[in-house]
Amino acid sequence: VNTGPPPSPIRLATPDTFGRVLGLWLAADADPTVTDTIDSLGCLHATDPEALLIAEENGDVIGTLIAAWNGWRGSLYRLAVHPRRRRQGVATCLVREGERRLRDRGALRIDAIIADDDPAAEGFWNANGYARQQGRSRFVRNL
Ligand SMILES: CC(C)(COP(=O)(O)OP(=O)(O)OC[C@H]1O[C@@H](n2cnc3c(N)ncnc32)[C@H](O)[C@@H]1OP(=O)(O)O)[C@@H](O)C(=O)NCCC(=O)NCCS
Repeated sequence: VNTGPPPSPIRLATPDTFGRVLGLWLAADADPTVTDTIDSLGCLHATDPEALLIAEENGDVIGTLIAAWNGWRGSLYRLAVHPRRRRQGVATCLVREGERRLRDRGALRIDAIIADDDPAAEGFWNANGYARQQGRSRFVRNL
């Protein structure tokens, strides 16, 4: 795992970056979700302006992570890195920064949702100290 200095600056997203965030998710081929909209990003930002982290390079958003704190657990969503910037430690830096922020806010346990059949994501999370939880499944309902 890359433990060197941050390969690109990481900061909190502001509303002017939301279009570029959505563009990155398309470019990164991140699994689409119902909340991939400017409105949903605005709602997240209004609810918790500290949740969405971005890595930037020359004005482009090249990486994202939502590190959400609900007062009980920390949850990581929408980790994505632009294809031309992969395997350079960008995602690792985003996760380390998200973990640091969640720890500071009181989180004792952090989870991330990973598709069953995604070796890249599984390789990444395993390399970063996360293990697949046995005996639990997520139940979801779209409202
Ligand atoms: C998964 C993803 C975020 C990784 O981003 P990244 O910036 O390339 O990751 P890092 O460079 O920080 O990788 C750190 C370590 O994770 C592991 N890893 C990363 N990508 C991997 C891959 N494709 N296969 C296996 N292991 C991988 C490696 O151990 C790597 O260290 P190394 O490069 O020294 O071998 C990126 O591939 C991506 O955006 N994928 C599409 C979206 C996605 O799947 N997001 C995760 C949803 S849960």
